[in-house]
Amino acid sequence: MEKAVRAIKRADKIAVLTGAGMSVESGIAPFRGEDGLWKKFDPQEYASLSAFNRDPEKSWELFRIQIEECLGAEPHEGHYSLVELEDHGLNAVVTQNVDSLHQKAGNEKVLELHGSLAELFCSSCNSREGTEDHLDEIVEGDIPHCGCGSMFRPDVVLFGEPLPRNVLSVSQREAEEADLLITVGTSAVVQPAASIPTLAKRTGSVLIEINPERTPLTPRVDHFLKGKAGEKLPELVEQIRD
Ligand code: APR
Repeated sequence: MEKAVRAIKRADKIAVLTGAGMSVESGIAPFRGEDGLWKKFDPQEYASLSAFNRDPEKSWELFRIQIEECLGAEPHEGHYSLVELEDHGLNAVVTQNVDSLHQKAGNEKVLELHGSLAELFCSSCNSREGTEDHLDEIVEGDIPHCGCGSMFRPDVVLFGEPLPRNVLSVSQREAEEADLLITVGTSAVVQPAASIPTLAKRTGSVLIEINPERTPLTPRVDHFLKGKAGEKLPELVEQIRD
């Protein structure tokens, strides 16, 4: 921990990459591991573009659960620590999460690689509306429809879909320009997000990983802080303050 604190104090430009583990202490289930969402829902059957086109009602069973979990969730201490880290060189939070918790906590620059559940869009006419505006019908088990008559879908990246190009390129640039990157709560297996820490490393960044488990990235990081986001991030920021 001490070496990681010293590295953060020396850094001018910090980037952070977060995954579902960042939101576990806010009550949102991760995708993989013991109580992972993909243990209950086969992502190819529920969360791929072909699945949604084949059977949108089925995909909406998953979207409904995710929307209910996320819209009721609040940021935890770890999220607020990342807001404070903006006073110590944090430039951007690159997240794989679609729950808007970094924005709710107050981070200025949040790059959502996999989109967001906060907005719905219509694949027929591309119109967009806030998920909040359709929450009642979603919670009642209905599927919100666009004025054009087609079904809405959440503005999240489904398997088999490209990531929003501009978000990915800005995130890659943040990683290249950072002299330190902290990755928190990701299993580091889904591309292209998983290559962001190695991109940062290749351009000279110090890598810090926070996770209760080791991941495929762990052998390549400079400091592995074994533990939960809601514990390790406040601990880090407390020691940086001093
Ligand atoms: N604090 C920090 N990390 C945690 C915590 C916690 N409290 N609890 C669990 N973790 C770790 C797990 O050990 C695991 O490594 O968080 C990670 C969660 O991994 P995944 O569920 O695979 O989430 P993520 O890495 O974000 O998945 C990437 O895969 O299915 C797609 O689109 C989905 O964005 C997601 C992407």
